Amino acid sequence: MDPISKALGQHYSEKFSLHGPSPEGVDWGSDETKMLLRYDKMLRVADYVARNKPSLLDVGCGYGGLRGYAISKNIDLDYTGIDVASNMIEWAGANLPSGNFIHGDILDYKFDREFDYVVCNGILTQKLETAGLQMDQFAAQLIRQMFSLCTIGIAFNVMTTKVNYYSNNLYYRNPAELFSWCLSEISPHLKLDHSYPLYEYTIYLYRNPV
Ligand SMILES: C[S@@+](CC[C@H](N)C(=O)[O-])C[C@H]1O[C@@H](n2cnc3c(N)ncnc32)[C@H](O)[C@@H]1O
Repeated sequence: MDPISKALGQHYSEKFSLHGPSPEGVDWGSDETKMLLRYDKMLRVADYVARNKPSLLDVGCGYGGLRGYAISKNIDLDYTGIDVASNMIEWAGANLPSGNFIHGDILDYKFDREFDYVVCNGILTQKLETAGLQMDQFAAQLIRQMFSLCTIGIAFNVMTTKVNYYSNNLYYRNPAELFSWCLSEISPHLKLDHSYPLYEYTIYLYRNPV
């Protein structure tokens, strides 16, 4: 397993052991409304291409919070989640039987299928002890892997550099620079949402114009 994935898995596994299925259990802090806003931003990836019950891969799905949110909003999905933290995947498998939950590292897991959409809510948030340049390489691998698995598009969020306070353990990435990288390396069909009241942004990348 990739060493960064392993360190992140250990970190989040500990959070889940301490706090259980809650925003704090996936280290999003205690404010549930912020977590729900992030889920909403992820599901907006499907706003532009009409499809009945689209397939969606949730990368770094944690305990399946996005699955629960989609159910609460009557959004019908053919849902698959993958996470490196085994305790969260075990919980999700037992408590959210309508989803398919996989224990694995997205960077090396071999899928035998593709998905309409692939989303990632929160892997590019903590860097822990990892150096910034190594995290940039990890982010590039993650984004390439997500895009390779989608037939329509992907969405992911990242902490913005437009902040007035930096914490050493978090991963911040300049939105204009990452947008430019995605444009030249992944797809010209993209959107960036830096408009919402969290210190992060969401990038949407599509295979075709939407
Ligand atoms: C901030 S949490 C967010 C969980 C979930 N997306 C949510 O918002 O409720 C990030 C999750 O990504 C998982 N993760 C980190 N690196 C991963 C990787 N390489 N492959 C799969 N999951 C990973 C962690 O174990 C953790 O559960």
